Amino acid sequence: MITIHVPGDKSICHRALMLAPLADGTSHIRGLALSEDVRATGAAMGALGAPAIGSLEEGQPIEIRGPVELRSPGSVIDCGNSGTTARLMVGLLAGSSAAATLDGDESLRRRPMDRVVQPLRRAGASVRELREPGYLPLEIEGCVLSPIRHESEAASAQVKSALLLAGLVSRVPVRVIEPGASRDHTERMLRAMGAQIEGEPQGKGMRVSLEPLSGALKPINMAVPGDFSSAAFWLGLAVLGGCRGEVRIEGVGLNPGRTGFLRVLDAMGASLDAMPSSDEAGEPVGDVVVRPSAMRGVEIPPEWVPALIDEIPIIACVASRAVGRTIIRGAQELRVKESDRIAALHANLVALGVSSRERPDGLEIEGADRAVAGVVETRGDHRIAMAFGVLGAVPGNSIAVDDRACARVSYPGFWEELDRVTASGPEP
Ligand code: S3P
Repeated sequence: MITIHVPGDKSICHRALMLAPLADGTSHIRGLALSEDVRATGAAMGALGAPAIGSLEEGQPIEIRGPVELRSPGSVIDCGNSGTTARLMVGLLAGSSAAATLDGDESLRRRPMDRVVQPLRRAGASVRELREPGYLPLEIEGCVLSPIRHESEAASAQVKSALLLAGLVSRVPVRVIEPGASRDHTERMLRAMGAQIEGEPQGKGMRVSLEPLSGALKPINMAVPGDFSSAAFWLGLAVLGGCRGEVRIEGVGLNPGRTGFLRVLDAMGASLDAMPSSDEAGEPVGDVVVRPSAMRGVEIPPEWVPALIDEIPIIACVASRAVGRTIIRGAQELRVKESDRIAALHANLVALGVSSRERPDGLEIEGADRAVAGVVETRGDHRIAMAFGVLGAVPGNSIAVDDRACARVSYPGFWEELDRVTASGPEP
């Protein structure tokens, strides 16, 4: 059996770095990921006067002291490739007493910011687009906001979290209604810090309510769970027989808002066990064991999508080697991720000789237990690179990925780990 530990959950790391400075006291966080996205948030918070203190070695503990009144930085904040950094930062700044300009790389400059800017403007936020309406760079001048009430068109944890952060720092109530249940890491962390926050199902979605802060927030003390979205690549590789037998992922986050891929693997015929065993600041953590399995196609309905949105690249790659048709619907949000992931997946699958049909909101893939070969263009998208890296490591397949380096955005060390765990790699 191969045992794998994945880097700390990226979504939780962003939130810990942004929320800990607001607490009254010193937060202790272990297992912070050192991916480029998380570093972007760390650097942004440092520029705003709220640095993380400690060694930047993988897994080393850091401290964050609070409470901090955010201060205006001397230069533009570069969010790099990270949509979560940019969108959550818009919310955090909008309700603060600081002013800052946010920018990002070419990919992030093409991603819509309107979804956070519009609801914040309705609450009185001062946000100025410096280039093009609805896109970075944005200049934000913090001010006292009025109560925030928003009904999202799409389930988005980034939108929900931006609004919660804005209301939190401005001490006003926030109500967000979503058509589906997006990941709830912000709510869980805030609850663990003593905030009054509730989520209740509403139709197929959720209604989240945050009451204005009356006292102080408690510091965070947590070991960040492993990132399920990083673990997903190893689960995909293992079911397709790319590892030496059974794989055990240890200490991975098992928040149900993130683990929709387990449901998909189960429906495709995978042999797996997920065993939650502990809790870190309200986040379930445990091990997942998965074995090589005969996989078949599956229909993924829109209501499954929020809990597996970042796993669709690896799902599509697994589907290419699963017998029969896989249909993914209701995933139109994929078109505005780090790349247009529907188009990127379709084009690359076709380039490898896989039968794929592009839908406006997803994909239809005709899979077969047959080797594939060719060149993959990642479009600079880390999850496209890693998903096809996994597919290329399945015995019989032969895939060249044009830009392997972009994996560092979420998973530095991914390619070394791939060499270690594959059936053809060096013996452990
Ligand atoms: C994230 C939320 C998701 C996800 C992204 C990380 C977060 O985006 O795709 O990788 O940390 O809040 P949306 O929920 O905003 O679409």
